[in-house]
Amino acid sequence: MKTQARYACQQCGALAPKWAGRCEACGAWNSMVEELPRATPPKGLGPAAGRRGARLDFVALRGETAGPPRLLTGIAELDRVCGGGLVPGSTILIGGDPGIGKSTLVLQAAALLAAGGSEAAYITGEEAIDQVRLRAERLGVADTPVRLASAASVRDIIAALDDKRAPDLVVIDSIQTMYLDTLDSAPGTVSQVRGAAQELIGLAKRRGLIVVLVGHVTKEGLIAGPRVLEHMVDTVLYFEGERGHQFRILRAVKNRFGATDEIGVFEMSDRGLVEVPNPSALFLADRSSAETEPGEEGGRTAGAAVFAGIEGTRPVLVEIQALVEGTRPVLVEIQALVAPSLLGTPRRAVVGWDSTRLAMITAVLDARCGLSVGANDIYLNIAGGLRIVEPAADLAVAAALVSALTETPVPADTVVFGEIGLSGRVRPVAHAEARLKEAAKLGFAEAWVPAGRVARTGDGMATVAIGHLGELVARLPAAPRHRVQPAGPRRFAAAP
Ligand code: TYD
Ligand code: MG
Repeated sequence: MKTQARYACQQCGALAPKWAGRCEACGAWNSMVEELPRATPPKGLGPAAGRRGARLDFVALRGETAGPPRLLTGIAELDRVCGGGLVPGSTILIGGDPGIGKSTLVLQAAALLAAGGSEAAYITGEEAIDQVRLRAERLGVADTPVRLASAASVRDIIAALDDKRAPDLVVIDSIQTMYLDTLDSAPGTVSQVRGAAQELIGLAKRRGLIVVLVGHVTKEGLIAGPRVLEHMVDTVLYFEGERGHQFRILRAVKNRFGATDEIGVFEMSDRGLVEVPNPSALFLADRSSAETEPGEEGGRTAGAAVFAGIEGTRPVLVEIQALVEGTRPVLVEIQALVAPSLLGTPRRAVVGWDSTRLAMITAVLDARCGLSVGANDIYLNIAGGLRIVEPAADLAVAAALVSALTETPVPADTVVFGEIGLSGRVRPVAHAEARLKEAAKLGFAEAWVPAGRVARTGDGMATVAIGHLGELVARLPAAPRHRVQPAGPRRFAAAP
């Protein structure tokens, strides 16, 4: 059979017979790369295949199953994200932007395991041996018995590891640099990344060893990202963080052996990654050190609210900061009334939260509470570089926005949570108890929570039930100098 050229999108893996500037499947530009299909396509299972299949052993659903055995790295944040340790025979993919700290994390894990008596190997395809040694020196783990090798050929790696003396853990840094000599395409292309991963996953299963694949996420899509591997491996972890921040968040997005949505929090120090067992304290660290400036009340700035969130199984408190420009409500009101078309499109800059959700909340504040938030430029920021996906943050976002608008700080000892409906009603959210407990632990005294089943913690937390967004607005009245004239339309008043 004649082998014909085909093109694979390096972004999503879609195949096309002809080259195109844009992938038809995912719309990525310049992502189609020629890849040769296998010379001999696999045979079908027809009668010609000759062999009859072996009998399947069907069993009952109920049975004696102990959970999978686990190998603990000793990095508690990593173990927890993996579901309570690493499972022998499984493959873990760690994805993230270049420079975020993937190599540092996996080297620390390998070194800890080796120091604890497990066999750990580290295969570097990207950096030279010397670079890895320098990092090990810096991390203070140079004397741990990690076996280090520089290799890029999967054939060589398998040859070295596929025997009874296989180590317990093998790190492949990175999967994009690995190649199979049976494939024609270049390292880093979809077919190479997939092919190499397939072989290494096979090795993990055969020998019961843990394979950790490091994968770069690239926006350009010229190199196949970890996405093409997500369905093949057992566990997918993403390492995230802002370059400027020292916080790093390890997030499980897929885990055959544990819960997803779990996060591990680390701080990048000059001696590697340090675990942050109590992230709330870290995310709120800047808060307590804030100095009192004019316009602030007891160290509190207007436009900020602390959200009591849940990340995975753990409550996490974060500060939400909002800046609403053109904060003088009367002025805003006039512009909105007199010349709305002159305002142009207000600016929105949102970091760490969903901007459509912000649009919804500003709309509800405007429509149900008689405010004029939407016409302003709004900057919303989740402190500490965390990304929040919970709708439970709605009420805290609204509190930050209203506080920014009225220049009235949210009380410093108060946390806020609750979901907002389009009617302005505040809906209850899950894990209220855990949120309150965490807040009490960190010294907060009051929580603004959805009306309804208000959990009692017995921790001395006072809860203020907010049934409607208007009640929140009433708690943050405009600072006296901006107080609205009685003649004007109703503003900052609770909706009926
Ligand atoms: P690295 O693990 O090489 O990132 P990746 O493998 O994801 O590309 O980490 C790179 C960054 O981390 C680099 O900017 C230096 C910084 N770093 C520290 O701040 N402290 C350390 O102890 C180490 C090893 C790295
Ligand atoms: Mg690296």
